[in-house]
Amino acid sequence: MGKNKLKHFAEMETFTNVFQKATVLKGKWNEVFFQNNNPITLELGCGKGEYSLALASLYPERNFIGIDIKGARIWRGAKTALEEGLKNVCFLRAQIDHLPEYFEPNSIDEIWLTFSDPHPPLHEAKKRLTSPKFISIYRQVLKPNGIIHLKTDSTILYEYTLEIIEELKLKMIYHSADIYSSELYDKILEAKTYYENMHLKLGKTIKYVKFGL
Ligand SMILES: C[S@@+](CC[C@H](N)C(=O)[O-])C[C@H]1O[C@@H](n2cnc3c(N)ncnc32)[C@H](O)[C@@H]1O
Repeated sequence: MGKNKLKHFAEMETFTNVFQKATVLKGKWNEVFFQNNNPITLELGCGKGEYSLALASLYPERNFIGIDIKGARIWRGAKTALEEGLKNVCFLRAQIDHLPEYFEPNSIDEIWLTFSDPHPPLHEAKKRLTSPKFISIYRQVLKPNGIIHLKTDSTILYEYTLEIIEELKLKMIYHSADIYSSELYDKILEAKTYYENMHLKLGKTIKYVKFGL
């Protein structure tokens, strides 16, 4: 492991807004960390956490938890949150597959999937974060009227998600294959993640799906 990575990992141990193996916080995120009763949004596969940070700034009356398995990426988001004094966002280093170990049923209002890995080969479709396996995981923590947002550069993931929504008879709210040319204006779509910026530089169009379970 590189020197910088080791330094970041050590520093992260001192951060008050990063949790690892925090199953004790199940059902207690608001009580223990946020100290309010505001609705909770998760960003799954948050990487460096740009979306969680941007949403936390936009919506001080909501709570945000960025989740990723890669600690080195979470370090960046957590450090920025501390530097900017953002108290309504924190980070959890965990596998998305294990969400029900960290969150009570009916406890999450919204989920954001930002530039999730598209896993192109068909035989890898079950690894996609909108596959039936993951939808059933989200069902275990999301409120009945909860919302899932997917923002992606991947046509494969976008079209696959539309198919899954139809197949599982989920509630489609809105979708666009090119969100920045669509008639929908919403400030929540303006934030750009590290991966989104890379894809935009390559001239890719950004797709968006908003749906309920
Ligand atoms: C392509 S990156 C996107 C990162 C960030 N959302 C962005 O847009 O810049 C996908 C991220 O999802 C995380 N990830 C993928 N599968 C995961 C899983 N099962 N559990 C936790 N994190 C996962 C990866 O570690 C990676 O940081």
